[in-house]
Amino acid sequence: MNKFKIAVSALAMIAVTSGAYAEEIVIKFSHVVAENTPKGIMANKFAELVAERLAGKVKVEVFPNSQLFNDDKVLEAILLGDVQLGAPSLSKFGKFTRKLQVYDLPFLFKNMDAVGKFQSGPHGQALLASMKSKGLVGLGYLHNGLKQLSASNPLRVPSDAAGKKFRIMSSDVLAAQFEAVDAVPLKKPFSEVFTLLQTKAIDGQENTWSNIYSKKFFEVNEYITNSNHGVLDYLVVTSEDYWNGLDAEIRDELNKAMAEAIAEGNKVASEKSMSDKQKIADSGRSEILTLTADERAQWVDAMKPVWAQFAGEIGQDVIDAAVASNN
Ligand code: SIN
Repeated sequence: MNKFKIAVSALAMIAVTSGAYAEEIVIKFSHVVAENTPKGIMANKFAELVAERLAGKVKVEVFPNSQLFNDDKVLEAILLGDVQLGAPSLSKFGKFTRKLQVYDLPFLFKNMDAVGKFQSGPHGQALLASMKSKGLVGLGYLHNGLKQLSASNPLRVPSDAAGKKFRIMSSDVLAAQFEAVDAVPLKKPFSEVFTLLQTKAIDGQENTWSNIYSKKFFEVNEYITNSNHGVLDYLVVTSEDYWNGLDAEIRDELNKAMAEAIAEGNKVASEKSMSDKQKIADSGRSEILTLTADERAQWVDAMKPVWAQFAGEIGQDVIDAAVASNN
């Protein structure tokens, strides 16, 4: 071997051992909402931080607006390795764990501070690992906000919802919540809600201010009841095998970037909740109804029995911890 060949082989050896030839890892992050929402902003921020800190080693590709998968499919896609990250609403994990149903119990959390307190406490943290046996692991919670009821008729008291069809996420608790007021719940993907409302195939739905605004539900439902009756938050989720299979240094950097992106998303969530509500009010396209204390009490009385129906699956200790976070 001449001197040139020896030098080239030595350089190649150094490059291989230093990882310079290692293939770039591509992490696909699939979600269903618009980019100008807490989750959309968090996902893009994560991609941006990874591009800054792990350039050439890891690239994050974000697919918003159900471009790749609906939430009902994304968890299977993660397990199959078709995508690596998702952040479905906590209401969409029922096939994998019954424990996360706690977040769907109506009138459980009085505000988003209480939700955050529960999530950072021992019960909330333990729930991140509640799908380990199914191969999924939660990397962190992300806020969206409290849900409101929108409909084609004014909903002031529970009897106003009787017989009406409401789109719900794929959650048995949410089905029971609407059945408790004699309404008809229909589990449908987020991507279909606008058309279902527009064509009057359904009468209403429940969602946060930022989803109602960004997906224009306020343009096809005339009334929005400021009910704050439940929470819509997310779990950023991946395959445990995939995440544990990453090089430890890279995983640490990704975890740090994720924590920062989530913090940014949470900040945006509370700002957007107020500003998107205001934009809806300013649009004049739908009327925002404020409940009196007595009207609100009627919804609580009608829906709260749902807690007892699911206490066995969720665990009374988990529900008690969630209630305690309101103090
Ligand atoms: C989401 O915010 O990710 C979607 C919520 C929904 O399905 O209503």
